[in-house]
Amino acid sequence: DETQDGYLILEKKLIAPETWSFIVQAPQVARGRKPGQFFMVAPFPESERIPLTLAGGDARRGYIHFIMQEVGATTQAMGRLSAGDRLYAVAGPMGTPTELVEEGTIVLMAGGYGSAAILPAAEELHAKGRRVITILGGRSRERVLLADELGKASAELIITTDDGTLGRQGLVTDALKDIIAREKVAQVVAVGPLPMMRAVSDLTKPHGIFTLVSLNALMVDGTGMCGGCRVSVGGQTKFACFDGPDFDGHQVDFNMLRMRSDWYKQEEKDICDPSEC
Ligand code: FES
Repeated sequence: DETQDGYLILEKKLIAPETWSFIVQAPQVARGRKPGQFFMVAPFPESERIPLTLAGGDARRGYIHFIMQEVGATTQAMGRLSAGDRLYAVAGPMGTPTELVEEGTIVLMAGGYGSAAILPAAEELHAKGRRVITILGGRSRERVLLADELGKASAELIITTDDGTLGRQGLVTDALKDIIAREKVAQVVAVGPLPMMRAVSDLTKPHGIFTLVSLNALMVDGTGMCGGCRVSVGGQTKFACFDGPDFDGHQVDFNMLRMRSDWYKQEEKDICDPSEC
Protein backbone atom coordinates (compact mmCIF):
# COMPACT_ATOMS: atom_id res chain seq x y z
CA ASP A 1 0.00 0.00 0.00
CA GLU A 2 3.02 2.24 0.38
CA THR A 3 3.42 4.88 -2.30
CA GLN A 4 6.42 7.06 -2.92
CA ASP A 5 4.46 10.14 -2.04
CA GLY A 6 2.81 8.89 1.12
CA TYR A 7 -0.85 8.72 1.94
CA LEU A 8 -3.05 11.61 0.93
CA ILE A 9 -5.22 13.28 3.59
CA LEU A 10 -8.59 13.81 1.88
CA GLU A 11 -10.35 15.44 4.82
CA LYS A 12 -9.49 16.57 8.32
CA LYS A 13 -12.00 18.05 10.80
CA LEU A 14 -11.84 19.06 14.44
CA ILE A 15 -14.64 17.11 16.17
CA ALA A 16 -13.77 17.75 19.84
CA PRO A 17 -11.02 19.56 21.73
CA GLU A 18 -7.66 18.25 20.42
CA THR A 19 -9.53 15.52 18.56
CA TRP A 20 -9.48 15.19 14.77
CA SER A 21 -11.43 13.13 12.28
CA PHE A 22 -9.28 12.09 9.30
CA ILE A 23 -10.16 10.57 5.94
CA VAL A 24 -7.02 9.23 4.29
CA GLN A 25 -6.35 7.41 1.05
CA ALA A 26 -5.07 3.93 2.05
CA PRO A 27 -6.57 1.29 -0.29
CA GLN A 28 -5.01 -1.81 1.24
CA VAL A 29 -6.15 -1.00 4.77
CA ALA A 30 -9.60 -0.02 3.49
CA ARG A 31 -10.04 -3.36 1.69
CA GLY A 32 -8.96 -5.62 4.53
CA ARG A 33 -10.42 -3.92 7.60
CA LYS A 34 -12.77 -5.66 10.06
CA PRO A 35 -14.45 -4.33 13.24
CA GLY A 36 -12.00 -3.89 16.12
CA GLN A 37 -8.89 -3.68 13.99
CA PHE A 38 -6.32 -0.91 13.96
CA PHE A 39 -3.55 0.36 11.71
CA MET A 40 -0.16 1.97 12.19
CA VAL A 41 0.77 5.42 11.03
CA ALA A 42 4.13 7.16 10.90
CA PRO A 43 3.09 10.68 9.96
CA PHE A 44 6.65 11.83 9.24
CA PRO A 45 9.81 10.00 8.07
CA GLU A 46 11.53 10.20 11.46
CA SER A 47 8.48 9.94 13.71
CA GLU A 48 7.41 7.10 15.95
CA ARG A 49 4.72 4.74 14.69
CA ILE A 50 1.32 5.30 16.25
CA PRO A 51 -1.41 2.66 16.43
CA LEU A 52 -4.86 4.11 15.65
CA THR A 53 -8.25 2.44 15.66
CA LEU A 54 -10.16 2.29 12.40
CA ALA A 55 -13.53 4.04 12.59
CA GLY A 56 -14.49 3.12 9.04
CA GLY A 57 -13.61 3.38 5.42
CA ASP A 58 -14.67 2.59 1.89
CA ALA A 59 -13.07 -0.41 0.19
CA ARG A 60 -14.18 0.65 -3.30
CA ARG A 61 -12.92 4.19 -3.06
CA GLY A 62 -9.85 3.15 -1.08
CA TYR A 63 -10.04 5.44 1.90
CA ILE A 64 -10.05 4.97 5.68
CA HIS A 65 -11.66 7.00 8.43
CA PHE A 66 -10.11 7.39 11.86
CA ILE A 67 -10.16 9.65 14.89
CA MET A 68 -6.93 10.95 16.36
CA GLN A 69 -6.61 12.57 19.73
CA GLU A 70 -3.58 14.75 20.46
CA VAL A 71 -1.96 13.02 23.42
CA GLY A 72 1.73 13.56 22.76
CA ALA A 73 4.33 15.17 20.54
CA THR A 74 3.76 13.09 17.39
CA THR A 75 -0.04 13.34 17.47
CA GLN A 76 0.21 17.09 18.10
CA ALA A 77 2.43 17.45 15.02
CA MET A 78 -0.04 15.32 13.05
CA GLY A 79 -2.80 17.65 14.24
CA ARG A 80 -1.09 20.48 12.35
CA LEU A 81 -1.37 18.70 8.97
CA SER A 82 -4.18 19.61 6.54
CA ALA A 83 -6.19 18.04 3.75
CA GLY A 84 -3.87 17.74 0.77
CA ASP A 85 -0.85 16.86 2.96
CA ARG A 86 0.40 13.30 3.08
CA LEU A 87 1.18 10.85 5.86
CA TYR A 88 4.57 9.22 5.45
CA ALA A 89 3.52 5.60 6.15
CA VAL A 90 0.28 3.75 6.81
CA ALA A 91 0.16 -0.02 7.42
CA GLY A 92 -2.57 -2.48 8.35
CA PRO A 93 -5.13 -3.62 9.13
CA MET A 94 -3.71 -5.19 12.31
CA GLY A 95 -5.04 -6.97 15.36
CA THR A 96 -7.70 -9.61 15.79
CA PRO A 97 -11.22 -8.56 14.67
CA THR A 98 -13.89 -8.22 17.37
CA GLU A 99 -15.66 -11.52 18.09
CA LEU A 100 -19.40 -10.87 17.86
CA VAL A 101 -21.96 -13.46 18.94
CA GLU A 102 -24.28 -14.73 16.24
CA GLU A 103 -27.60 -14.08 17.97
CA GLY A 104 -29.29 -11.76 20.40
CA THR A 105 -28.95 -8.17 21.48
CA ILE A 106 -25.48 -6.64 21.53
CA VAL A 107 -24.76 -3.58 23.67
CA LEU A 108 -21.87 -1.47 22.40
CA MET A 109 -20.42 1.01 24.90
CA ALA A 110 -17.88 3.73 24.41
CA GLY A 111 -16.32 6.37 26.58
CA GLY A 112 -14.99 9.45 24.76
CA TYR A 113 -12.61 8.51 22.01
CA GLY A 114 -13.78 4.84 22.16
CA SER A 115 -16.70 5.71 19.87
CA ALA A 116 -14.40 5.23 16.87
CA ALA A 117 -13.66 1.63 17.82
CA ILE A 118 -17.30 0.53 18.15
CA LEU A 119 -18.59 2.22 14.99
CA PRO A 120 -17.49 -0.52 12.52
CA ALA A 121 -19.11 -3.23 14.69
CA ALA A 122 -22.34 -1.20 14.97
CA GLU A 123 -22.48 -0.71 11.21
CA GLU A 124 -21.76 -4.35 10.42
CA LEU A 125 -24.36 -5.63 12.90
CA HIS A 126 -26.92 -3.08 11.73
CA ALA A 127 -26.42 -4.14 8.10
CA LYS A 128 -27.18 -7.73 9.16
CA GLY A 129 -30.41 -6.64 10.85
CA ARG A 130 -29.11 -7.32 14.36
CA ARG A 131 -30.36 -5.48 17.44
CA VAL A 132 -27.68 -3.06 18.61
CA ILE A 133 -27.99 -0.78 21.63
CA THR A 134 -25.27 1.84 21.89
CA ILE A 135 -24.30 3.68 25.06
CA LEU A 136 -21.95 6.63 24.69
CA GLY A 137 -20.45 8.48 27.60
CA GLY A 138 -18.22 11.46 28.16
CA ARG A 139 -17.24 14.02 30.72
CA SER A 140 -19.37 16.62 28.94
CA ARG A 141 -21.26 17.19 25.69
CA GLU A 142 -18.14 17.98 23.66
CA ARG A 143 -16.51 14.67 24.62
CA VAL A 144 -19.31 12.53 23.17
CA LEU A 145 -18.08 11.52 19.72
CA LEU A 146 -19.74 10.08 16.59
CA ALA A 147 -23.23 10.15 18.13
CA ASP A 148 -24.95 10.75 14.75
CA GLU A 149 -23.15 7.89 13.03
CA LEU A 150 -23.73 5.48 15.92
CA GLY A 151 -27.35 6.56 16.27
CA LYS A 152 -28.00 5.56 12.65
CA ALA A 153 -26.53 2.10 13.23
CA SER A 154 -28.34 1.38 16.50
CA ALA A 155 -31.88 0.42 17.50
CA GLU A 156 -31.36 2.63 20.53
CA LEU A 157 -28.72 5.23 21.40
CA ILE A 158 -28.24 6.28 25.01
CA ILE A 159 -25.92 9.14 25.91
CA THR A 160 -24.60 9.84 29.38
CA THR A 161 -22.42 12.72 30.51
CA ASP A 162 -20.80 13.32 33.88
CA ASP A 163 -22.08 16.90 34.00
CA GLY A 164 -25.48 16.31 32.37
CA THR A 165 -24.78 18.65 29.39
CA LEU A 166 -25.97 15.93 26.99
CA GLY A 167 -28.24 12.93 27.51
CA ARG A 168 -28.69 11.67 31.04
CA GLN A 169 -26.38 12.66 33.82
CA GLY A 170 -24.40 9.74 35.12
CA LEU A 171 -22.20 6.92 33.97
CA VAL A 172 -22.50 4.51 31.07
CA THR A 173 -22.78 1.70 33.60
CA ASP A 174 -26.00 3.26 35.01
CA ALA A 175 -27.55 2.98 31.55
CA LEU A 176 -26.29 -0.58 31.15
CA LYS A 177 -27.83 -1.58 34.49
CA ASP A 178 -31.25 -0.44 33.23
CA ILE A 179 -30.92 -2.37 29.99
CA ILE A 180 -29.88 -5.58 31.76
CA ALA A 181 -32.87 -5.20 34.11
CA ARG A 182 -35.32 -4.90 31.23
CA GLU A 183 -34.05 -7.27 28.53
CA LYS A 184 -31.77 -10.17 27.75
CA VAL A 185 -28.35 -9.08 26.53
CA ALA A 186 -26.19 -11.57 24.61
CA GLN A 187 -22.96 -9.56 24.54
CA VAL A 188 -21.42 -6.30 25.69
CA VAL A 189 -18.46 -4.63 23.98
CA ALA A 190 -16.87 -1.78 25.94
CA VAL A 191 -14.17 0.60 24.72
CA GLY A 192 -12.99 3.44 26.89
CA PRO A 193 -10.87 4.32 29.91
CA LEU A 194 -9.72 1.39 32.05
CA PRO A 195 -11.94 2.23 35.07
CA MET A 196 -15.00 2.29 32.78
CA MET A 197 -14.17 -1.07 31.17
CA ARG A 198 -13.49 -2.56 34.57
CA ALA A 199 -16.83 -1.31 35.93
CA VAL A 200 -18.67 -2.73 32.90
CA SER A 201 -16.97 -6.11 33.33
CA ASP A 202 -17.83 -6.18 37.06
CA LEU A 203 -21.44 -5.40 36.21
CA THR A 204 -21.92 -8.07 33.54
CA LYS A 205 -20.02 -10.85 35.29
CA PRO A 206 -22.77 -11.95 37.72
CA HIS A 207 -25.20 -12.03 34.79
CA GLY A 208 -22.88 -14.23 32.72
CA ILE A 209 -22.95 -11.80 29.80
CA PHE A 210 -20.04 -12.28 27.39
CA THR A 211 -18.09 -9.02 27.62
CA LEU A 212 -15.24 -7.78 25.48
CA VAL A 213 -13.06 -4.84 26.45
CA SER A 214 -10.63 -3.16 24.07
CA LEU A 215 -7.12 -2.59 25.33
CA ASN A 216 -5.94 -0.58 22.34
CA ALA A 217 -4.80 2.36 24.47
CA LEU A 218 -1.89 0.30 25.74
CA MET A 219 -0.27 -0.22 22.38
CA VAL A 220 3.08 1.41 21.69
CA ASP A 221 4.54 0.16 18.39
CA GLY A 222 1.72 -2.23 17.51
CA THR A 223 4.06 -4.84 16.08
CA GLY A 224 4.40 -7.49 18.79
CA MET A 225 8.06 -6.47 19.25
CA CYS A 226 8.21 -3.95 22.10
CA GLY A 227 6.19 -5.86 24.69
CA GLY A 228 4.62 -2.58 25.83
CA CYS A 229 1.08 -3.87 25.35
CA ARG A 230 1.61 -7.01 27.45
CA VAL A 231 -1.52 -7.89 29.40
CA SER A 232 -2.53 -10.70 31.68
CA VAL A 233 -5.74 -12.42 30.62
CA GLY A 234 -6.98 -15.51 32.43
CA GLY A 235 -3.51 -15.85 34.01
CA GLN A 236 -1.78 -15.89 30.63
CA THR A 237 0.41 -13.22 29.06
CA LYS A 238 -1.05 -11.76 25.86
CA PHE A 239 -0.19 -8.88 23.55
CA ALA A 240 -2.94 -6.32 22.97
CA CYS A 241 -1.63 -5.50 19.48
CA PHE A 242 -1.56 -9.09 18.30
CA ASP A 243 -3.93 -11.22 20.42
CA GLY A 244 -6.29 -8.23 20.91
CA PRO A 245 -7.03 -5.44 21.21
CA ASP A 246 -10.29 -7.10 22.40
CA PHE A 247 -10.22 -9.44 25.38
CA ASP A 248 -12.74 -11.13 27.66
CA GLY A 249 -13.35 -8.47 30.33
CA HIS A 250 -14.01 -11.13 32.96
CA GLN A 251 -10.48 -12.53 32.48
CA VAL A 252 -8.44 -9.33 32.26
CA ASP A 253 -6.14 -8.42 35.16
CA PHE A 254 -7.13 -4.75 35.49
CA ASN A 255 -4.85 -4.10 38.47
CA MET A 256 -1.77 -4.84 36.39
CA LEU A 257 -3.09 -2.64 33.58
CA ARG A 258 -3.59 0.34 35.77
CA MET A 259 0.02 0.38 36.90
CA ARG A 260 1.31 0.06 33.35
CA SER A 261 -0.88 2.76 31.86
CA ASP A 262 0.16 5.30 34.51
CA TRP A 263 3.74 4.69 33.53
CA TYR A 264 3.08 5.20 29.81
CA LYS A 265 1.27 8.45 30.34
CA GLN A 266 4.44 9.88 31.87
CA GLU A 267 6.61 8.41 29.12
CA GLU A 268 4.49 9.98 26.37
CA LYS A 269 5.05 13.45 27.79
CA ASP A 270 8.82 13.02 27.51
CA ILE A 271 8.99 12.37 23.77
CA CYS A 272 10.16 15.36 21.75
CA ASP A 273 8.26 16.88 18.82
CA PRO A 274 9.51 15.26 15.56
CA SER A 275 8.99 18.50 13.62
CA GLU A 276 11.21 20.41 16.03
CA CYS A 277 13.95 18.00 17.08
FE1 FES B 1 4.50 -3.34 21.10
FE2 FES B 1 2.22 -4.74 21.19
S1 FES B 1 2.48 -2.63 21.06
S2 FES B 1 4.24 -5.48 21.42
